[in-house]
Amino acid sequence: MAPQLLLKHDLVYLTEDPSHDEIIEIINAEAFGPGRHARAAARIREQGPHDRSISFVCADDGETIASVRMTPVIAGSVKGHMLGPLAVRPSHKNRGIGRELLRIAIEAARRKGSEAVVLVGDPPYYCPLGFEKVSYNALAFPGPVDPGRVLVVPLVDDVHPRLAGVIAWRP
Ligand SMILES: CC(C)(COP(=O)(O)OP(=O)(O)OC[C@H]1O[C@@H](n2cnc3c(N)ncnc32)[C@H](O)[C@@H]1OP(=O)(O)O)[C@@H](O)C(=O)NCCC(=O)NCCS
Repeated sequence: MAPQLLLKHDLVYLTEDPSHDEIIEIINAEAFGPGRHARAAARIREQGPHDRSISFVCADDGETIASVRMTPVIAGSVKGHMLGPLAVRPSHKNRGIGRELLRIAIEAARRKGSEAVVLVGDPPYYCPLGFEKVSYNALAFPGPVDPGRVLVVPLVDDVHPRLAGVIAWRP
């Protein structure tokens, strides 16, 4: 029998649960380094827990290799969610996994009644995937943030004018 090359990539997308916490910490440390806890978005996440029911991981043949988390926030008068961290292990980059996690998380937020998904991230990555820039300095974060990196996917009408004021964790 001729030798077979078995390429096994069984990607599955799962709702996050506590058993993923340890590997998610490793994935985020690898992606963002030791300064990640000082970021303004991280300070919002310190104010309260993320929402596991709309946070997701990707596993390849049983090994968790990517994660996206969603945290409930109030941004000005918009009741939405902050997306992040989003991270994919270097071994699995550029296969559409980040894009698919974004799609799943945003859709789950929409189903949950979220008015918008906000994040702080690279516009060249996120804007082609549906994110729009928030008006410069419209939102006050609990720490320094580059205003050009504050992005939003509106999920209802009239989000942009209401994205003005403080952004904080939402009970
Ligand atoms: C950013 C990240 C989540 C993307 O995940 P991924 O699964 O590799 O991305 P996808 O496969 O969905 O998309 C890949 C495309 O995005 C591009 N891309 C990746 N990171 C990018 C960035 N920071 N800016 C612009 N484009 C980027 C890739 O070049 C690739 O482009 P192509 O399709 O034209 O070849 C992942 O690379 C990661 O975890 N990076 C470490 C954290 C980080 O740098 N975050 C920066 C964004 S805040």
